[in-house]
Amino acid sequence: MSKSLSNDNQAWGSRVGLVLAMAGNAVGLGNFLRFPVQAVQNGGGAFMIPYLVCFLLMGVPLLWIEWSMGRFGGRLGHHSTPFILDSIVKRSFWKYFGVFGIFTNISVAAYYCYIESWTMAYVYHSVVGTFSNMSQVDIAQFFVDYTNVGASTTGIPYESIVFFVVCIILNTYILSQGLSGVEKAAKIGMPLLIIFGLFLAIKGWTLGTSGATAEHPNASAIDGLNFLWTPQYDSLTNPKVWLAAAGQIFFTLSLGMGSIQCYASYLKSKDDIALNAVSAGFVNGFVEVVLGGAIVIPIAAGYLGLDWVKENAGFGMAFQTMPYLFNNWGVALAAIAGVMWFGLLFFAGITSSLAMGTPWMGFMRDEFNWSSSKGAWSFGLIVLILGLPTVLFFNYGVFDEYDYWAGTVSLVVFAMAEVLIFVLVFGADRGFNEINEGGDIKVPIIFKYIIKYVTPVLITVVFLGALITPEGNDWAGSFQGLFAGNGWTFDNSSIIKQATLAGLRADIAAATDASVLDHLEKKLLYVTGARILLVSTFLGIAGLVYLAYTRRVKEGRI
Ligand code: PHE
Repeated sequence: MSKSLSNDNQAWGSRVGLVLAMAGNAVGLGNFLRFPVQAVQNGGGAFMIPYLVCFLLMGVPLLWIEWSMGRFGGRLGHHSTPFILDSIVKRSFWKYFGVFGIFTNISVAAYYCYIESWTMAYVYHSVVGTFSNMSQVDIAQFFVDYTNVGASTTGIPYESIVFFVVCIILNTYILSQGLSGVEKAAKIGMPLLIIFGLFLAIKGWTLGTSGATAEHPNASAIDGLNFLWTPQYDSLTNPKVWLAAAGQIFFTLSLGMGSIQCYASYLKSKDDIALNAVSAGFVNGFVEVVLGGAIVIPIAAGYLGLDWVKENAGFGMAFQTMPYLFNNWGVALAAIAGVMWFGLLFFAGITSSLAMGTPWMGFMRDEFNWSSSKGAWSFGLIVLILGLPTVLFFNYGVFDEYDYWAGTVSLVVFAMAEVLIFVLVFGADRGFNEINEGGDIKVPIIFKYIIKYVTPVLITVVFLGALITPEGNDWAGSFQGLFAGNGWTFDNSSIIKQATLAGLRADIAAATDASVLDHLEKKLLYVTGARILLVSTFLGIAGLVYLAYTRRVKEGRI
């Protein structure tokens, strides 16, 4: 790939490459780790209906919006959201919402690369047979040791930092090759991921009750599959489930992040969007519900029972349990399954973390003439600095803090701003034509109205719901209380209470044990530090946007 400083010399090599890269962007750890956890915690079959509704009414419309905004901006030589938005909102303050489209990617990359580095480490340990004679307790403890900085499971101290750094260097190296590096990674990673995923999913589908033992007589993979695939209507009125479903749709489709706009900005002016966007979205959906839904839940339920799965939903299932369960398949197959499972997670992860690097690189190239390698290495350095606290203070909630603000709240805020700008400023009619421009299919006209009325309302409702979640998630009771003049009590999970760290403060006030208190106080300190880092990152990028903008004005380039 040329390292020339001109703005528009980068483009996708082929349509297959583009769709694979976009699918690789979307298909990530979210599909295999986050989805099963969300589904289990929100009632399995009860989760799936809100999930599918959110996919159709929010996910697909937003995909079209982000793809078309990206292509529109790219035509004018813009490859990151601040200036893509600026070309639509014409020099107004709104372009600063575009800062989210760089900030989110960098901050998510910081903790995402950490999980990605676990998958590398676990591939290594599967190959060398570390897990082969371990008990369930040993394997669970292995993860605790691994994430405990300074400890070692290989003989190399600080192993988790070593793998983290190697992972960032690998990402950076591929990114420094420009768009063709990203495309090549997707062309290798995506097919392998699907092959590995199919192998494990077939195991999940066919396990049945063969894993039941005296200790776990009720173990059944079928229970796990039924749990997910039996529709339940009782929770349709539960806003918490809807919020979780919407959040999952955003995260898994990489919406509200800025990376789709960036990828789409390298499309040619008349390239299809209408079909490509839904294709990438459906590939992601397939990998998530068909493959992602057929691995962790049924396999864990198949050996440990569905109740165990419900009680233990979390990262633990993927890292602390799967290697142990694979041991049931004999030494050789256990090693192969371990390599496939963690290899699949690695490919899913890297094709997403690469996507997170491109908005920063595009921005620095457009505005400051930075080459691909300069853009990539600076991205790696920032991610390293921002990511180290998630590694060092993993047990003090820094990781979760990043995931909450950058990986959850920011997406919804940015997506909301985007839809409003698209519908109100760009114009729904003009926007719909833009989506269809060069299209290989015609987007059904109903989507024009969905984009205009349904999507913006839905996102706003989701955001407000998360902002002011009432105590105990009891919306009906809280509204009654409000009208009876009793005011509104926020739940500690509401964005407002999260912002003031009300839950943590309450825990500190209630703590009696000295060591618990000490842990919580440290947590408060590190979480506050994490917030300062995140805010500084945001402000730093906003400062660069301001600088770039004033330069453009001075040079008459705007
Ligand atoms: N969609 C990815 C996943 O499911 C996450 C992601 C976030 C990708 C931000 C790109 C940008 O894991």
